[in-house]
Amino acid sequence: MDKPFVAVATVDEIATGKFVKVEVDRRDFIIARVDDNYYAVEDNCSHEDYPLSYGCLDGKRIKCSLHGSRFSLETGIPEDEPADQPIATYRVQVADGKIWLDPSRPLTS
Ligand code: FES
Repeated sequence: MDKPFVAVATVDEIATGKFVKVEVDRRDFIIARVDDNYYAVEDNCSHEDYPLSYGCLDGKRIKCSLHGSRFSLETGIPEDEPADQPIATYRVQVADGKIWLDPSRPLTS
């Protein structure tokens, strides 16, 4: 896999319905798996800069554990108040049994 992709986990490390927190260049990301699809989002709730990795997955959403906003893993858009701003999402690819993240620029933010 060419730059800017970085290997951040192996496929075996993430069960479906789960996520892992990874750090790349001192930035925290969440790599989530739903069925056989992988998603990457910033590990930061847009409401009060709280780690989303303290929360849990709810289908294709990640739920903030502080006030309960759920964000789409696909678009980063919040689906519940109080958050009203999206979180950043990033490109991920699977190759050679690994999950690769492009941390260079968000797809959405
Ligand atoms: S800090 Fe996440 S919803 Fe308030």
